[in-house]
Amino acid sequence: MTIPRMLRHVRTGTLSVSLSLVTMTATACGTSTAREVDPSTFGFGRTPDAAQLASIDIDVSPNGAGLPAGSGTVAEGAAVYRQKCAVCHGLNGEGVAPSPTLVGRTPAAGHVFANDRKAKQTIGNYWPYATTLFDYVRRAMPHNFPGSLTTAETYGVVAFLLNANGIIDSTATMDAKTLPAVQMPARKFFVNDNRTGGAGFK
Ligand code: HEC
Repeated sequence: MTIPRMLRHVRTGTLSVSLSLVTMTATACGTSTAREVDPSTFGFGRTPDAAQLASIDIDVSPNGAGLPAGSGTVAEGAAVYRQKCAVCHGLNGEGVAPSPTLVGRTPAAGHVFANDRKAKQTIGNYWPYATTLFDYVRRAMPHNFPGSLTTAETYGVVAFLLNANGIIDSTATMDAKTLPAVQMPARKFFVNDNRTGGAGFK
């Protein structure tokens, strides 16, 4: 039996039918095995060049691997924030619905999220790594123009947000060396998920 495989494009939601065919073979004992027969080419698209690949190869790991050369200060970031972020996140990071709140160390006492569903998660009380804040902002923000920030703007606006959350000094400069050294207040509340299944697994 031959079944065309349906693929949904993640970003656009459009549905496409690929040329790839799945061949199902009934075996003697009644179970089936699926074997994929992919053609060597789908007849469209082109091989990306090194520059195109580099433009999307921008992931930054929690330990800072992947952070680019460059830097930004809190003051520089304040200007970027006012111009490119405040319209959605509020002048002080308070969030303008439906955009999330970015600034706040509440609840100051600790991590109450398991008991308080309404507590607002912010960079100051929930984000575990400063490095992944850089990664996220660079790839996803501004929401209406993702990928448009320069490296310096990204370091700057991250510095601004860390300072607004009371995590770094107002004179700090963020770069590939200083950013991984920032200790996020919520880091200690995260544990490795080493569950392997069984009764306790939810
Ligand atoms: C057009 C509105 C808009 C603009 C402009 C915008 N954002 Fe956002 N931002 C959002 C929305 C909406 C989300 C939630 C996205 C989601 O959950 O998928 C978000 C999420 C975020 C988050 C993650 C918050 C969290 O705790 O999950 C950060 C950090 C952030 N934005 C930073 C920025 C920065 C920095 C800028 C400016 C460079 C910016 N945003 C500009 C709308 C915006």
